[in-house]
Amino acid sequence: MIQQKIQEIKKKKQAIILAHNYQRPEIQDIADFVGDSLDLSRMAANTRAKVIVFCGVHFMAETAKILSPDKMILLPDIDAGCPMADMVPAEELRKLKSMYPDAVVVSYVNTHAVVKAESDYCCTSANGVSVVSAIPNEKKIIFTPDKYLGSYIIKQTGRDMILTNGFCPTHQTITREGILVLKEQYPQAMVIVHPECNPDAIDIADEALSTNGMCKFVALSGASEFIVGTETGIIHRLKKENPQKQFYPASPRAVCPNMKLITIEKLLWALEEEAYQIEVAEDVAEKAKMAIERMLAIV
Ligand code: 13P
Ligand code: SF4
Repeated sequence: MIQQKIQEIKKKKQAIILAHNYQRPEIQDIADFVGDSLDLSRMAANTRAKVIVFCGVHFMAETAKILSPDKMILLPDIDAGCPMADMVPAEELRKLKSMYPDAVVVSYVNTHAVVKAESDYCCTSANGVSVVSAIPNEKKIIFTPDKYLGSYIIKQTGRDMILTNGFCPTHQTITREGILVLKEQYPQAMVIVHPECNPDAIDIADEALSTNGMCKFVALSGASEFIVGTETGIIHRLKKENPQKQFYPASPRAVCPNMKLITIEKLLWALEEEAYQIEVAEDVAEKAKMAIERMLAIV
């Protein structure tokens, strides 16, 4: 059985499997740890394993490599990227920085290492508000790449930030109209959405949360029904941890094609072949690490 083979090779190679909350059910089930971007980067930094198989997208594996340069970081499909991370290249950020030379740059973790290297702080959806709040009030802030997470943070903190034009195509399938239809159908359900969603959708939600934030919220909530406004893969974990509760995807089309590129067969292949190995140039990694560590120091 493929699962058994994976366990055997994993043991032999002292490997650990990390999986994002959006991964396929069978990947989540075999992973040593399932979490959001923040948790997974902390896990990568602290594990004693020699090899990390990262079941997620490229920027997540790259972040793991930056934090653990001595470990072998494997991404089972090299094409598993994040379109949002491609939307604002380092060149565009450098141009913006030259227009606002005194601005502090905060980049969402969904960026390439070269963009993190141009940033003062990194943040995730779990801590964006805390990171921005920690920056002195008089400082101008450039926030990249997600304009929707950026505008959510502006609303929460009252800070006036310069935003770039990135967004997540998967989260754009979640609409205010779609949520309103579901609310009619399930009037008792609480609405939880990811801050990558459109502000119109966030406005009618009960909570805007990172993926781990959603898992914690559901576990502690007295409610028994939830409309879930994020990538549908998270519903596997939510159901597993809360078998007595009901979950309705805010949009059945919210499926990230990049996250879904990782399959159980590719996971086995990655372990067997030690591929694809993620590397980050030393000078880039050094600068990017400073931005990530500044974030970790705040939260
Ligand atoms: P989280 O950090 O909330 O897991 O989100 C990552 C992501 O890519 C959302 O689309
Ligand atoms: Fe990127 Fe959106 Fe996929 Fe998250 S869900 S990895 S932001 S494309």
